[in-house]
Parts: sequence; C-alpha cells; structure tokens
Amino acid sequence: MGTISLKNINKSFGSTEVLKQLSLDIQDGEFLTLVGPSGCGKSTLLKIIAGLEQQNSGDVIIDDKNVNSTRASKRDLAMVFQSYALYPHLTVRKNLETPLKLRDYSFVERLPLVGNFVPSRKEKKKSIDDLVFKTSETLKITELLDRKPGQLSGGQRQRAALGRAMVREPVAFLMDEPLSNLDAALRVHMRSELSELHNSLKTTFIYVTHDQAEALTMSTRMAVMIDGELLQLDTPSEVYNNPSSLRVAEFVGSPKINTFAAQISSDGSVEFMGIKLERKFNTNSQKALVAVRPEHLEITKDSNKPAFEATVSYRENLGSDIFYHVQVDQSESKIIVRGSPQAGLISNGETVRISLSHAEAMLFETSGERIR
Ligand SMILES: Nc1ncnc2c1ncn2[C@@H]1O[C@H](COP(=O)(O)OP(=O)(O)OP(=O)(O)O)[C@@H](O)[C@H]1O
Ligand SMILES: [Mg+2]
Repeated sequence: MGTISLKNINKSFGSTEVLKQLSLDIQDGEFLTLVGPSGCGKSTLLKIIAGLEQQNSGDVIIDDKNVNSTRASKRDLAMVFQSYALYPHLTVRKNLETPLKLRDYSFVERLPLVGNFVPSRKEKKKSIDDLVFKTSETLKITELLDRKPGQLSGGQRQRAALGRAMVREPVAFLMDEPLSNLDAALRVHMRSELSELHNSLKTTFIYVTHDQAEALTMSTRMAVMIDGELLQLDTPSEVYNNPSSLRVAEFVGSPKINTFAAQISSDGSVEFMGIKLERKFNTNSQKALVAVRPEHLEITKDSNKPAFEATVSYRENLGSDIFYHVQVDQSESKIIVRGSPQAGLISNGETVRISLSHAEAMLFETSGERIR
C-alpha cells in the first residue's frame, strides 16, 4: 500500500507563510507530480511528508496511519534529491548495500571482523545480495556495480541514486527535482526511464518539479501549487485543456497562454480585438479576459475569417514549429502564435491577420476565476 493524505497542512518560517491549509490525497501506486513556480513551497511539502520538516498544523497520514509524530526513518519512504546523495568513496554496490545493512544487520553483525562469524549474517547477506542484483537489473546498472560514483555519467549516477532508494522497497518514493542536474537530452531520456520504472514497480511516486514538461509527460495526476496553495489537482490533459484559473492556465503551457481584454454583453456574448466569440458565457461581469494558447491562434490569409491585425516582431524557429511573437497596435503585450514551417516563413515586420479556434478560447474573470 502507499496512500498518502495531507490534511490542512500549514507551515510558516518565521512570519513567512509557506503552505496554507493544504490538503491532498495521493492514491496508492500513482505518479503524482507537484508543480509550481520556484519558491511556492514544493520542497517544503515533500519534506513534511518525509518527516524532515515539521508542519505547524495539519496531519500527514500514510496508509491510514497518522505519522505526525513518526520519525523520518520510520516512515518507510525513500527520498531522491537533485544532488545524488551517493557516498563518493564507495562503489555503487556498496552504496546500494549500505542502507540495507543498516536496516537488517544487528550491531554485532555489522562489526567488520567479528560480524563474519555470526551465523545469521550469512543468510542476511544473501538476501541483500539478491536484492541489490534485482534492483541493478531493473535499473540496468549491473555492469556498473563495482565503479565509484565519480566514474559514472550523470544519468548513470542518477540511476544509482534511484537504486539506493529502491532497495529498501519503500511505501512511496519522494523525488525532488531528481533530473535537474542532467543535460536536456538526458533529462528527456530519464523521463521515459522513470515512467517505465514506475510502471514496473507500481509504487507511489511523488515527484516535485518546476518543469511543467516533466509533469505533463510523466504523471498520472498533477498538483499545481502556487504561493503555498493547491490550485488544481487533475490529469495532465485536464490541467492543460481545462485549467480552473488563469494562474494555472498561465503556469502550464509553453510558450505561455495569450490573454486579451474582452467585453461581455448582457446576453453573455464576448467580444475581443473586434472578434465576437461563437459561444456565450455565464457571468454578470462586463469585463473579462479571453485566453488562447499559441497553438489555437492562426495566421490566416482567409479574408472571410474574423481576425485581427498584428505585426510580426520576432520569430522563434524550433524546426517542427515556429512561434511568431506579434505586436498588436500600440499595446505593450506581445502575443505568441504558433505557425508551421510548411506554411512558409513570415518575415519580421510583416503585418498579418490572426484568427482563432473558437472552441478552444477560455474566459476568465479579471480576478482570474474561470468563466464557463
Ligand atoms: N528553512 C527555511 N527557513 C526559512 N525559509 C525557508 C526555509 N525553507 C524554505 N523557506 C522558504 O519557503 C519558501 C518555499 O520554499 P521551497 O523550498 O519549499 O520552494 P520550492 O517550491 O521547492 O522552490 P524551488 O522550485 O525553487 O525549489 C521559500 O520562500 C523559501 O525561501
Ligand atoms: Mg525545491
């Protein structure tokens, strides 16, 4: 089992409130990512779950047991940090064995010479060897067991660190930005390895990242945290396509979602930039914000389509996609539109017409709440 419940967690450092009445239920075996901008309290929350930091109020419940007063070492969780936390002077094998020996051997069995003569040690050594081998096979590091961390690549080191956490067969893995030290290509590779590992272990993973691409690609559900509050807990596609507030919509998605000032008539019809949305919305407000992702805007040559004019000020060519940064009239804010290379490159300074996919446009109150 590996269910973890957080109930009304509050945490302050001095006068800084870091977590505010945060509640979260993590299901057994799920891959939950905790995402949010830097400083929003992700690491603090993870440390509270692990027992490395004490909350001011609220409860941490692991497998139906309140662990508020249970020490970190007794919570049966494995932490994997950004820095690998491997002993540099020990081989990978020794790094993997050490937590098991500390857990399983008695004081006498741990003694260097005398320990060898204790009969029970032999049996325990065998089961530790088996577990180390099984883990190293799963992580494909068997060939590396006799090397020291300094003789490994970043990705191999990260796998060894995972192995060290895995051998203890914890109830859940808590990972705090474990991939952020790796280069871009390796990070993408390790993402798929971690997903596969999760599929084969079926253990609960709680994964902290401020990289929303990691969250979108790996998780069963993602918890979006901003300023110490949980704003949305949903599947990645729900969070991306159906954000509950403008803050979530703006945090998830790269490049960032575009927003436009809009006027609402009493019948619920919405107009922005001279375009009237095909759908009506339910609100009493007269002003609101229309939000459209760059891929739902289009540079169009069709003069029958409702569109607004803008000038291309910069283009970001990513090979498969081109993002055009365009300027509308005198307004300061730039808008980003996705184009495809097949449509031909548009030069800086060119004036274009921009239309949108009406079904994908979202509406938010100026305070940020979603209007449906
Ligand atoms: N021990 C501490 N003493 C005082 N303030 C702290 C302490 N630990 C964290 N904080 C503050 O609490 C807030 C949340 O920190 P936390 O490390 O949880 O953020 P985070 O979401 O993990 O950010 P990042 O993505 O940058 O790692 C920050 O404002 C930080 O400065
Ligand atoms: Mg952190």
